[in-house]
Amino acid sequence: MDSPHKPKSMSSNLFFLFLLLSSNLLTLFISTTYYSSCSLNQTINAGTTFHSNTAPVVAKPEVDDSSATPDLPPEFLTFTSAQELPFGFNTNFDSDKILPPVGRPCTLFPDILRQYMSYTVNGSCPDDELLGQKLLLKGCEPLPRRRCRPAAPREYVEPYPLPDSLWSTPSDSSVVWTAYTCKNYLCLINRKWAQKGFDDCKDCFDLAGAEKNRWASSNSGGGVDFSINEVLAVKKPGTIRIGLDIGGGVATFAIRMRDRNITIVTTSMNLNGPFNTFIASRGVMPLYISISQRLPFFDNTLDIVHSMHVLSNWIPTTLLHFMFFDIYRVLRPGGLFWLDHFFCMGEQLEKVYGPLINSIGFNKVKWVVGRKLDRGPDLQEMYLSALLEKPLKNSW
Ligand SMILES: *[C@@H]1O[C@H](CO)[C@@H](O)[C@H](O)[C@H]1NC(C)=O
Ligand SMILES: *[C@@H]1O[C@H](CO)[C@@H](O)[C@H](O)[C@H]1NC(C)=O
Repeated sequence: MDSPHKPKSMSSNLFFLFLLLSSNLLTLFISTTYYSSCSLNQTINAGTTFHSNTAPVVAKPEVDDSSATPDLPPEFLTFTSAQELPFGFNTNFDSDKILPPVGRPCTLFPDILRQYMSYTVNGSCPDDELLGQKLLLKGCEPLPRRRCRPAAPREYVEPYPLPDSLWSTPSDSSVVWTAYTCKNYLCLINRKWAQKGFDDCKDCFDLAGAEKNRWASSNSGGGVDFSINEVLAVKKPGTIRIGLDIGGGVATFAIRMRDRNITIVTTSMNLNGPFNTFIASRGVMPLYISISQRLPFFDNTLDIVHSMHVLSNWIPTTLLHFMFFDIYRVLRPGGLFWLDHFFCMGEQLEKVYGPLINSIGFNKVKWVVGRKLDRGPDLQEMYLSALLEKPLKNSW
């Protein structure tokens, strides 16, 4: 297969760091690896196969013998080892065993893994959200299951009832705050002016702030800001019913869609904030997966996939290529992919991302390019907002 991608050498990774710092919705951000992952000096390895010659696979799941793999924690081996089906051969599994899965890179980080898998079976898990997320963002996704009870707030307070929950700040007592700089919601609400430095979605927890008006206008604001109504008007009323928002911050998109009786699942990491807990407290569905993970939906099922500010040039191009195809896969024929505020350099859009997106096979319903000026015109940054439709007829 021909690669649509012409690698473009970029001068400085530092530039990409600035670019990242300027965005506030990169909730799926790979925090520890982004300096290197932002380089565009990559090619789409369309013909590459990913066999085990690149990384040492330490685990030997077929062998239930922890002495053979002394580096890996016993509880990890217990989980991942082949487990015999009690009734023998099962035609659905085409086997007499089950091999419970974890991300292949898990075993590349035995020290973190050992820490993560050290707990009392049947007891309480350590309060180690950061450790789990670190492992996950390093590619250990899915994480191994654990046989312990997760840290929970001491005095849990149940959520507000619907519809109040949608736009209310939940009780501080609904969150385990250990992993975050802020220790209450007031701190998260105030951090956009009170706290120096970058945080993903820094102003998102303030429901009376920028969140209040996102996508809310009843008609098109023009340019790269499509309104939800404008997007839904493209399809027959009622036919957009279920979908996914990738890296959806505090899930305001899902809440706007809920007003229209559309069910949206929102993926988010917990990057220095209790995003998943907050989304759940509001009363919509959080999904804790990174941008690297295959979308856990079957082919041709979703009516809409949306993503704002997340899919952009900070993501390695090969990963982006896989992501676009995965989005194409889960959308049903006639389903919509709303690529909202994709950002990159003008030249990259022409030479790399435009051709890349075009190559996937969507119909272009809307394609609006605008300048991104929040950090000044000299940087030549561009936004692309596109509304793409998976063809109704199987033409590929
Ligand atoms: C955990 O509980 C189960 C069920 O009671 C029991 O079978 C198992 O032996 C316990 N494991 C440990 C390590 O305590
Ligand atoms: C959503 O569903 C409810 C209950 O079926 C209905 O009353 C309401 O009109 C619907 N709202 C929209 C915007 O379709």
